[in-house]
Amino acid sequence: MGTGSSILSYIVSKFLDKKNILTADINLTAVKLAKKKGFNAIKTNLFEKITGNFDLITFNAPYLPEDFREPKSSQLATTGGKRGDEISLKFLRQAKKHLNKNGKVFLLISSLTPMDKINKFHPKIVARKKLYLENLLILEILP
Ligand SMILES: C[S@@+](CC[C@H](N)C(=O)[O-])C[C@H]1O[C@@H](n2cnc3c(N)ncnc32)[C@H](O)[C@@H]1O
Repeated sequence: MGTGSSILSYIVSKFLDKKNILTADINLTAVKLAKKKGFNAIKTNLFEKITGNFDLITFNAPYLPEDFREPKSSQLATTGGKRGDEISLKFLRQAKKHLNKNGKVFLLISSLTPMDKINKFHPKIVARKKLYLENLLILEILP
């Protein structure tokens, strides 16, 4: 989800045949790029146009709280809503309905993203990385 430059799909394609990977993004440029790189790609707002279930769903989400100083052009990739967790929460609610029985979701957020509502999904922090003023966190969420 939110394939952007297709970097995460590229990593996954080292272990899985590309025909078993679906990339998705709300941004048509990202979708076109993913197709050019040989991935199945769909332009969609989260799971709106996605059917079927998956073993693994990843999302490096837009996770920052809204900041009006940021240009609109980059907000789509960075801003998760007023608080910063809104897109992640919508994603988690929808992703759980698209997971196979033993499937997993990996969601990347930041120490700048509020965790109170995300914690209701019982995430396990499986990786952390300090980056300038924030810590990046990878959360694992089970069905
Ligand atoms: C932080 S970037 C991550 C890009 C890439 N996956 C990476 O790890 O470098 C977030 C991506 O999510 C996409 N995105 C934002 N809102 C979305 C939504 N509602 N549905 C699908 N994709 C969305 C953005 O267009 C952007 O490509």
